[in-house]
Amino acid sequence: MSQSIQYVLVTGATGFIGAHVVDELLRRGLRVRGATRTLAKGHAMAAARPEHASSLDFVEIDDFERPGRLDIAVEGVDAVIHVASPLTYNTKNNEKELIIPAINGVKGILEASTKSGRVQRVVLTSSFAAVLDATRKSPSYFTFTGKDWNPLTYEEAVAPTTPAHIAYRGAKKFSEKAAWDFVRDHQPGFDLVTICPSMTFGPVATPIDSASQLNETNAMIWKVAKGLPLARARVASWIDVRDLAFAHVEALLRPEAGGKRYIPCSPEPFSYDLAAQIMEEEFGWARGKVQREDQPVDTSYGVDGETTARELGLSYTSFRKTIVDFVSQMTRVEDP
Ligand SMILES: NC(=O)c1ccc[n+]([C@@H]2O[C@H](COP(=O)([O-])OP(=O)(O)OC[C@H]3O[C@@H](n4cnc5c(N)ncnc54)[C@H](OP(=O)(O)O)[C@@H]3O)[C@@H](O)[C@H]2O)c1
Repeated sequence: MSQSIQYVLVTGATGFIGAHVVDELLRRGLRVRGATRTLAKGHAMAAARPEHASSLDFVEIDDFERPGRLDIAVEGVDAVIHVASPLTYNTKNNEKELIIPAINGVKGILEASTKSGRVQRVVLTSSFAAVLDATRKSPSYFTFTGKDWNPLTYEEAVAPTTPAHIAYRGAKKFSEKAAWDFVRDHQPGFDLVTICPSMTFGPVATPIDSASQLNETNAMIWKVAKGLPLARARVASWIDVRDLAFAHVEALLRPEAGGKRYIPCSPEPFSYDLAAQIMEEEFGWARGKVQREDQPVDTSYGVDGETTARELGLSYTSFRKTIVDFVSQMTRVEDP
């Protein structure tokens, strides 16, 4: 399969994870089309990569609340990496802002890929949020694997009293399920691989002028650098964004990955206090500025990141390197 994939559509290409996926594809010599709702963002990203001018183009698509122009986006490409989906906890109506767009986006991209007749594989960025059963209790010790699904019902996810972070878990579960159901029911000419990453951190690959442009997960790390009170991590599992981009591209190019569900995850647990400790140890300005708090890591369960590492040839970056690379980059953008 890898021989015949030359041109790849990446949705969410200007986002935190999508931009790294674009760069990983370009690094491998593939041609990339990025999809975005705001073409100006795409043009800024392309302008920052003049060496890839002939292999990177952008197409404007509609918001997934009412997806459109996906047929145009898919036209001529050999494969799709569908990264785009709303990731925000600042919502007024979770069903309208998180769940419906996530499902519509997946269905829209799969329908367009089916019509195109040329797409050979779709890699979908799902989330560990679609895997995690937050009600599962230890003992005894257990390990989440790619076979697990969160038990949320649609009714629970859309209930007005449900907090946005739980509704997001529903959005990722129901959109990923929609993808597997689509492939089962329509038997299209492409296969599907899903990637279910945990909290994703690391340097940004899109040009930013201020921390206000950071995605949700990196914004939390930057708050630590700013000396704000530490958040409590809901899960201790995480991955570096560069490793995640590598996993997406390997999942695209390895024929044997077809039909699989991967949950890439570093073997090292994280906490916001650990991020603070690393900042204190690595950056003079952080000493006496960042807050510290006893945040024991829940070691009563694990996440199987090993299968992804073995099957996709991935070595996980250390949390220290991830934090140092991200914070060093951000201190060039604004003062902590
Ligand atoms: N960050 C994490 O820790 C994490 C962990 C697990 C899974 N994920 C998943 O990874 C993917 C990317 O997340 P990210 O962290 O890179 O977030 P991000 O920086 O916010 O990027 C998300 C992208 O999705 C597009 N998008 C968002 N809402 C949309 C909508 N309603 N209609 C159409 N496009 C929309 C946006 O593209 P434009 O604005 O350019 O149109 C944006 O660039 C998501 O599927 C997310 O669920 C993220």
